[in-house]
Amino acid sequence: MRTKCLEIEMDGSEVWLESSQTRSLLDEAAALLRTGGTVAMPTETVYGLGANALDREAVAKIFVAKDRPRWDPLIVHVCDREMLERVVGEISSPAERLIKAFWPGPLTLLLPRSALVPDAVTAGRPLVAVRMPAHAVALEVIRRSGVPIAAPSANRFGYTSPTTAQHVLDDLDGRIDAVLDAGPTRCGVESTVLDPNQRPMVIYRPGAIAREQIEAVAGATVDWAPAEIRTEPREAMVSPGVGLRHYAPRARVRLVEANGSAMKLAVEWERSAGGTVGVMAARGLAGETPALLASITAGESFLWGEWSKPEMLAERLYAGLRELDGRGCAVIVCPVPTGEGIEAAIRDRLRKAAFRGDAE
Ligand code: TXA
Ligand code: MG
Repeated sequence: MRTKCLEIEMDGSEVWLESSQTRSLLDEAAALLRTGGTVAMPTETVYGLGANALDREAVAKIFVAKDRPRWDPLIVHVCDREMLERVVGEISSPAERLIKAFWPGPLTLLLPRSALVPDAVTAGRPLVAVRMPAHAVALEVIRRSGVPIAAPSANRFGYTSPTTAQHVLDDLDGRIDAVLDAGPTRCGVESTVLDPNQRPMVIYRPGAIAREQIEAVAGATVDWAPAEIRTEPREAMVSPGVGLRHYAPRARVRLVEANGSAMKLAVEWERSAGGTVGVMAARGLAGETPALLASITAGESFLWGEWSKPEMLAERLYAGLRELDGRGCAVIVCPVPTGEGIEAAIRDRLRKAAFRGDAE
């Protein structure tokens, strides 16, 4: 299969939907989706690999392209209220408040599924994960295709998520019908996955919408109990794809306390052990000096961003891991943020990228 790259005309980071070239690319992508094809597309979080969520054969292609196990369910992307109502049953009032506050946006809600949603999408679960992406290209492609779109992150299963069309091609070229290229994604980490039907509501995956924002709108939340990760087989978990090793580059990821001298010690230790050492280098770590920074960035390094700007760190996280991986690093040394909000999402992804106990 040849993967077609559909390059959208951009004005800086803005998409110009009115251009006739853009409209014809969106129509081409929508036609592929309507006829059972697979199309990767940008969302505000990461690139997703889309297929018609109501067509079980199209959905099956997603699992094949990604080498994704069938027990890991998919998020359904909708473009409006009417489409939402086709895929879900009753919407509780906390869920309604969250939809009003955060959609379109990076919040995925687990809602009772309608009879139209095939088992392949939810891996047989009674709840379907659904969100409305805040990205003009994604919304327009879904609208033009006329069907809800199932879309996991467009990477090989377990590997680092893609934030550019090139990342998608690096993983899936020749395995999918097309990729829509509209530049790098804005958030850089995936949506928050929330079950609003329980009390307190359960966060299965921290993400681009922070716990504090959710609680202000709809009440208390808890994180999914990590004990469950160790005691149950993956396919039996309530939200199976969110645990253990995930989002991981090929390199071993070594997490380090976020200060200059701890980074220096870790980098020196890894260098002395041999193999290429990559560094996720942030400016403005506690105790950092120009000499410390120069020493840790002397080998392979990726200039991640300012430590005081976590949104920027989130945006560039996966690009950095992929870049250092591509340079053949055996280990990637990376400081870990300790704060809440988007920092909790970055920390979650780094811990899962560093987890070594589960080969998948
Ligand atoms: O930002 C995002 O959410 C991106 C973009 C493309 O929308 N998508 C994404 O999808 O990250 P994926 O498949 O890579 O991650 C979705 C997570 C998985 O860990 C999956 O296990 C969980 O959501 N999930 C999906 N459907 C579920 C369900 N019905 N019940 C429980 N967990 C579910
Ligand atoms: Mg994923």
